[in-house]
Amino acid sequence: MASKTKFQAIRGTRDLLPPETALWNRVEQTAHEVFATYGFGEIRPPIFEPTELFARAVGGETDIVSKEMYTFQNPTGLAPMVHEKEMVGTLAEMSPESEMISLRPEATASVCRAYIEHNMQQLPQPVKLYYMGPMFRRERPQKGRYRQFYQIGAEILGGPDAPAIDAELIEMLMTFFDKCGLQGTELSVNSIGHAADNCRRGYVALLKAELEKVKDKLGADSQRRIETNPLRVLDSKLEYEQPIIATLPRIADHLCDECKTHYAAVKHELEQRGVIYRENWRLVRGLDYYMRTTFEITAQGLGSQNAVCGGGRYDGLVELLGGPPTKGIGFAIGEDRLILSLQESGKGAAPQGRDVYIAWMGERAYATAIRAAKDLRNAGFRVELPPTELKFGKALERASKLGSRFALILGDNEVADGQWTLKTLADGSQQKLTEQALLEYLLKP
Ligand code: HAM
Repeated sequence: MASKTKFQAIRGTRDLLPPETALWNRVEQTAHEVFATYGFGEIRPPIFEPTELFARAVGGETDIVSKEMYTFQNPTGLAPMVHEKEMVGTLAEMSPESEMISLRPEATASVCRAYIEHNMQQLPQPVKLYYMGPMFRRERPQKGRYRQFYQIGAEILGGPDAPAIDAELIEMLMTFFDKCGLQGTELSVNSIGHAADNCRRGYVALLKAELEKVKDKLGADSQRRIETNPLRVLDSKLEYEQPIIATLPRIADHLCDECKTHYAAVKHELEQRGVIYRENWRLVRGLDYYMRTTFEITAQGLGSQNAVCGGGRYDGLVELLGGPPTKGIGFAIGEDRLILSLQESGKGAAPQGRDVYIAWMGERAYATAIRAAKDLRNAGFRVELPPTELKFGKALERASKLGSRFALILGDNEVADGQWTLKTLADGSQQKLTEQALLEYLLKP
């Protein structure tokens, strides 16, 4: 006997259903349109890549790579399916790494890999690409945080060292949010300099020394991060750590002259474009590839998971992945959070009713109903044609339950006379129309 197990979507994953999916489509359509106006083309990289790609790009010590990736042995050839026991969770458990693949936790690494693989440095620079699709991270699920979540992201690769590139990318992002109707957006920007002794490396050494002095007052996570990634301590949300963090040295005071100039120019460019921003010296981001400009956008109605987008500059990443020295900057929007915020502010999608419900009775009427449904659908109307015959009363009940605007009543009499009955469900009025007149009537604005 077949087991009666009732399956459920795996923890941290969910089904996106109508009418909500209409809102997802609207948001994605807006992204296609806005990004195209800025000269971006769409890239669709695969959903899994070698684990090593993410380890190298995002950083082996980051939470994303060390704890959150879905990683498994890549069965080569037609090997049998991997047994559950062989599935491993953390990078530390993997060996040999070349055989391991991971579901993508983000897509910047994939876009850089594709840039190198397809010799895109030979195209006119910079190359502007965007993507949308699911990402996977084994995080603790909560509102706005899922294990399969969706991002809409954009990357600019190559081109000159120009702060205008950073500013235009952010301008595009804010234009997109505006067109989506997102409320209460706040853009935070920062510069985390570049990896040199007279810039970020020097600052991190100083920060580490200062953190050592207050180590005992910090929580376990921050204590660990003093060793692994001191910058990430600045990210802490722990209440009791806030006054301590407030007294730490700030990176803006320790940037090299070039990074300082670059940061000032990005801010100036944002102002020229009328983009409102707030500086946040603690914005360091959780991925290792960033340098100079970092930014994040929060929106209303999201609770603690209120970052709806994060991004930054990553000059050097393409080189790190084996390509030529290449500049890079990009962002990724958390689409789930964007949708949540739109819904919370009343911008959700209403259930879509039908335009026309065809209430038919009788053999001849059915043949006409099939043809009418086809013609109306061709003309772009949402049409419901019941698959079995229903008494007119029952059919009209269904029509209003489905939120139909009109019911087209087709009985043998209507078909014989060539005069169809159209009922407007809002006021119950009825009129007789020929087939041609009916289409014209429905098409009238
Ligand atoms: P990220 O900050 O890790 O950056 O993710 C970007 C956005 O994805 C977050 O701001 C959030 O809205 C959303 N997000 C992240 N994790 C989850 C989750 N578990 N559930 C729901 N939403 C989530 C990146 O991924 C970089 N690749 C962005 C980038 C592109 N930087 C340069 N280019």
